[in-house]
Amino acid sequence: MIELRNVSKIYTTGERALEDVTLTVEEGDIFGIVGKSGAGKSTMLKLMGLLEMPTTGEVVIFGENAGAYRGAKANAIKKNIGTVFQGFNLLMQRSVAGNIAFPLEITGKRRHEIKTRCEELAELVGLSDKLRAYPASLSGGQKQRVAIARALATNPKILLCDEPTSALDSFTAKEILRLIKDINAKLGMTTVIITHDIHVVKAVCNRMAVVDEAHIVEIGKTAEILANPQSAKTKELLNFDI
Ligand SMILES: Nc1ncnc2c1ncn2[C@@H]1O[C@H](COP(=O)(O)OP(=O)(O)OP(=O)(O)O)[C@@H](O)[C@H]1O
Ligand SMILES: [Mg+2]
Repeated sequence: MIELRNVSKIYTTGERALEDVTLTVEEGDIFGIVGKSGAGKSTMLKLMGLLEMPTTGEVVIFGENAGAYRGAKANAIKKNIGTVFQGFNLLMQRSVAGNIAFPLEITGKRRHEIKTRCEELAELVGLSDKLRAYPASLSGGQKQRVAIARALATNPKILLCDEPTSALDSFTAKEILRLIKDINAKLGMTTVIITHDIHVVKAVCNRMAVVDEAHIVEIGKTAEILANPQSAKTKELLNFDI
């Protein structure tokens, strides 16, 4: 579904964010990418979301080399990818319904279609009673629910989440992870979650990659890696070595 093939990314500043990264996210996966700050995690997600292009290597999405596309074709692929961020990135001057509706308005959907879809999505994320509320009046967990509903509005096939629970307390984080897991199961949504917390990966991801200093140092099934971690970095993240 998503493949990075020997991908390197060097930003124009000369910063080497990724080096020779190869990874496959299969349809239906909840794939976890874990590593320390600066490891290159967000860069990987930006490549998957076509927000950045690789310096070398290929980004293949739905079996097509996404790097070859510009303009309308790139936008068509992007429409199938929803993204959720740590800081929620809501439009503060718009209500919950207005935020969820935003991507639908851009794609030119009719008003009554938008209203029905907003109600469906609000129900999915447990915010049916908050459609008229404004983001300033919501808790962090509720804001992230709005962001998830908005990311799902155009029916994407892939959901990319960059540190979706880092701004939340541990209880609320669990609720959001449960929601993401539910959406994956209910909608068969292929999901990628970036986190610095290996326990998040343990809780929800069937497959995982550990990233360190621009490289993947370990990749595979979560259960197998956590039962028998091979790389020093994975062990460190698990607190085996202190
Ligand atoms: N737009 C950019 N321009 C230049 N350098 C960048 C850019 N984005 C990221 N970098 C650099 O690339 C490296 C990897 O950054 P990235 O944001 O992918 O890491 P990360 O693992 O997501 O870190 P964090 O956990 O702090 O979010 C860092 O050294 C960073 O400074
Ligand atoms: Mg990041």
